[in-house]
Amino acid sequence: MTIKREELIAKALESRHNAYAPYSHFFVGAAVQTEEGEVVGGFNIENASFGATNCAERTAIFSALNQGARRIVALAVAGDPEHFTYPCGICRQVMAEFAGQDMPVFIVKSALDYREETLAALLPGAFTPKDLEEYKDV
Ligand code: THU
Repeated sequence: MTIKREELIAKALESRHNAYAPYSHFFVGAAVQTEEGEVVGGFNIENASFGATNCAERTAIFSALNQGARRIVALAVAGDPEHFTYPCGICRQVMAEFAGQDMPVFIVKSALDYREETLAALLPGAFTPKDLEEYKDV
């Protein structure tokens, strides 16, 4: 599968403009590429009850799932344009549910300034659905 790196980065940057972040004013956009090759965006959605906030990465992943996808092959996240914004721990775990450990994750400041990581580097030794499949209850 060819990774649509530029499209993912552009969609993450574009999605950031729609972020709902009236409390933190920390605007984040994300985009995922599905196994079918679709690029789906998302942004952070905050809540007056702060704990109900949903990060941009999870919005993008859940939106892709809602469109019928079950696996993602790449993800881009664009937060603070001055610093690299890395995914939070919960989002890394959600990625591990729907992506392989080799999935590229683009950490984006701008279209020309980004880092490429892998899910394995961000969440080594991830607990995944495979752990449950291999578990034999006695
Ligand atoms: N946030 C994201 O959307 N993604 C990240 O990778 C880091 C944090 C959001 C959650 C919250 O709306 C705001 O950034 C501040 O934590």
